Amino acid sequence: MKPRIGVIGGGVYGAQVIKTFHSSHKEGLVDFVAVCDIKQEVLEEHKNKFGVTGYTDYKEMIAKEQLDGVAIVTPDYLHKEITTYCANQGLHMLVQKPLDTTTAGAKEMVDVANKNNVLMFVDFHKRYDPGHIQLKSDIQSGRLGKIQYGYACMEDKILVPSVWFKSWAQHSSPVWFIGVHFYDLIYWLMESKPVEVYATGIKDKLLSMGIDTYDSIQAKFMFENGASFAVDASWILPNSFTSIVNQQIRVVGSEGMEEVDSQDRGLMAAFSASPSAIQSNPYGKLELDDLMYGGTKLSGYTLESMVHFLKLLRMLKSGTPLESLNGHYPNGEQAVVSTRMCEAVHESVISKKIVSLGL
Ligand SMILES: NC(=O)c1ccc[n+]([C@@H]2O[C@H](COP(=O)([O-])OP(=O)(O)OC[C@H]3O[C@@H](n4cnc5c(N)ncnc54)[C@H](O)[C@@H]3O)[C@@H](O)[C@H]2O)c1
Repeated sequence: MKPRIGVIGGGVYGAQVIKTFHSSHKEGLVDFVAVCDIKQEVLEEHKNKFGVTGYTDYKEMIAKEQLDGVAIVTPDYLHKEITTYCANQGLHMLVQKPLDTTTAGAKEMVDVANKNNVLMFVDFHKRYDPGHIQLKSDIQSGRLGKIQYGYACMEDKILVPSVWFKSWAQHSSPVWFIGVHFYDLIYWLMESKPVEVYATGIKDKLLSMGIDTYDSIQAKFMFENGASFAVDASWILPNSFTSIVNQQIRVVGSEGMEEVDSQDRGLMAAFSASPSAIQSNPYGKLELDDLMYGGTKLSGYTLESMVHFLKLLRMLKSGTPLESLNGHYPNGEQAVVSTRMCEAVHESVISKKIVSLGL
C-alpha cells in the first residue's frame, strides 16, 4: 500500500514541495491527496493544478484524510505548534528548516516525535548536493588530512526578504532562513560538535525599507576537533544578481583543499526580455520538458531530499522499524545542533562576545 501524504503550507517553497510530491504521485511512489493553507486563493491554485483536496485547517485535513505523513512548510516560527500536533497524531513528518527558532523548542519537538515513534526528517538538502557528497567522502577517507579551517557563504537576492515573504521576514534573519543550511552542512561534514562562535551582524538596508531584521551576519565557529569555519549569510544581494542565491564552500586540511561552487555551475543564459543574465544550478533543481514522454521532468538535489523522505515513508509503511533508519537521513536531533548554532550566533551578535554552544 502506498503512503497517503499531505502538505501544510502552500507558499513559495510549499509550491516546490507540492510539485515534487505530485511528480512522485504520478510515478506511483505515494498517494498525494491533500494540501492545507490558511489562504483560500493559495489553495485554489494547488487544487486546480494538482487535483488534491484543499483545507484551510490542518487539523480537519488530518482528521479526514487518513494520512501517513505530512510536509510542514509554514513560516519558521509556526513549525513547532503544527509539528507537535502532527507527531501526536502519529504522522511521519518532513519539516522545513530551521526546525524551530529556539533550541528549547526544537528539543521539545524532537521529544514529542520520539515519544510517538514518528519520523522527523528535516529538509537539509545541501547534504544531497553531489559536490558536497564528494567533499564529505574526501574528508572521511582522509584525503584532505586533518581539517584545519573552512569558509562558506549563502546569500539571497533582496527580492527574497523584501517581496517573497515580506510578511514574516522580521520574524527571521539571513541566519535562520539560509545560513542554517550551511551551519548544518559544516556540522555534517565535520562530524564534530561546534563548541564556540563569535558573530557580527548589520541592520541597515532592510531596516530602511521598514523590515526590522539583519541584512547580513558573519559567524566564526570553533569545532571540538580543532577546526574552525567562517560562514557569511546575507539576503541583500542586488536583484540584478544572476541567481536567486549565491553559495559556496571551501575546506582546507593538512593534506589538501577542496571547493564547491554551488552557484556557478556552468549553465548561463541571457535574453533580451530579462534584465540580467541568468545562471541556474542544474544540480539543485531542473524542470525540464520531458522530450521522450511529454510533460515536465523534475530533477536535482532539492527534490531528491524530499523524495528521500517519501521513500523512507514507504519503508515505514511496509513495516521497516523506525530505529533501523537512524543515521540515514537529516534527523531532528541533528537539527537541534543547527538550531543552537543559529541561536548562539544571534546571542553573539547582540552581546559582542564569544558564545559557548553548550551542546
Ligand atoms: N529548503 C529550502 O531551501 C527552503 C527554501 C525556502 C523556504 N524554506 C522554508 O519553508 C518554509 C516556508 O517558507 P516559504 O518561503 O514558502 O514561506 P511563504 O510565506 O511563502 O509560505 C508559507 C505558507 O504557509 C501558510 N500558512 C501559515 N500558517 C499556516 C497554518 N497554520 N496552516 C496552514 N498554512 C499556513 C501561509 O498562508 C503561506 O502560504 C519556511 O520554514 C522556510 O524557511 C525552505
